Amino acid sequence: MPTCPKPLRPACTHPAPTMARILVVLAHPDLQASRANRAVQAALAPLAGPGGPVELLDLYARCPDYLIDVPAEQARLAEAELIVWAFPVQWYSVPALLKLWIDEVLAFGWAYGPGGQALRGKALWLLPTTGGSAASYQPAGHNRHGIEVFLTPWEQTARLCGLRYLPPLALHDAHALDASALAAHGAQVRDMLARWPAVPAWQGLLDDDCVDCAVPAEAYC
Ligand SMILES: Cc1cc2nc3c(=O)[nH]c(=O)nc-3n(C[C@H](O)[C@H](O)[C@H](O)COP(=O)(O)O)c2cc1C
Repeated sequence: MPTCPKPLRPACTHPAPTMARILVVLAHPDLQASRANRAVQAALAPLAGPGGPVELLDLYARCPDYLIDVPAEQARLAEAELIVWAFPVQWYSVPALLKLWIDEVLAFGWAYGPGGQALRGKALWLLPTTGGSAASYQPAGHNRHGIEVFLTPWEQTARLCGLRYLPPLALHDAHALDASALAAHGAQVRDMLARWPAVPAWQGLLDDDCVDCAVPAEAYC
C-alpha cells in the first residue's frame, strides 16, 4: 500500500474555541473595503465580547493563507447551537475560503454519513449580502431567480448534516444602501441573535425533527 505523502499544506493554528452558543463565520475577502458585512461585524461586537453569546470568526483574517485547522473548527462547531454564515454573494455562491471551510470542516463521518452526527439538531442561518437589488432577484430581473434559489446548495447541505435551516436574511443592493440602512440591518441581526433561541420568527422551525435528514447508506458508496 502506498504511504501518504507529507501534506503540502500545514494546518494553521487557531486560538482555543470559546463556549459561545452562536458561531458567526464572517467570510469577506476584503473586509476593510466592505460596507455591508462590516456593518454586521460592528453590530455584533457587543455580543462577541468575553462571556457573550457570540463567537465572531473573521475567516479571512484567521486563515489568510487558506490553511484551515479542521479539528479546531470542528471543536468550535461542536460547542455552538447556532451557526451563522455572513458573506457577500460572489458569483451566486459563497466566497472561496468559506467554500473551502465547508469542504474541509463538514467532513464525511463527522458532519454527515455514517457516524456523522456532530451537527445534528443545531441550526444554520445565512446572512448573504448582494450587489444586485431585490428586483434583480426576481423572475423578471437580470438574476432571474430569487436569492433563495442560489442558496439551495446550503439548504441541502444543512439537511444532510441534520442542521435546521433557518430562513436566510439577505441584504440586497448593498452598494446603494446608506449608512443608516446598513446599521439597521446590523441591528436586526444583533437583536435576533441576542434573543436566540427565542426569536419569534424561528419558533416552530427549531422544533423541526429534521426527518428528511436520513440519507440512504448506498448514497456514500
Ligand atoms: C468577485 C465578486 C463576485 C460577485 N458576485 C455577485 C453576484 O453573483 N451577485 C450579486 O448580487 N453581487 C455580486 N457581487 C457583489 C457583492 O455581493 C457585493 O459587493 C457585496 O455583497 C457587498 O457587501 P460588502 O459591502 O460587505 O462588500 C460580487 C462581488 C465580487 C467582488
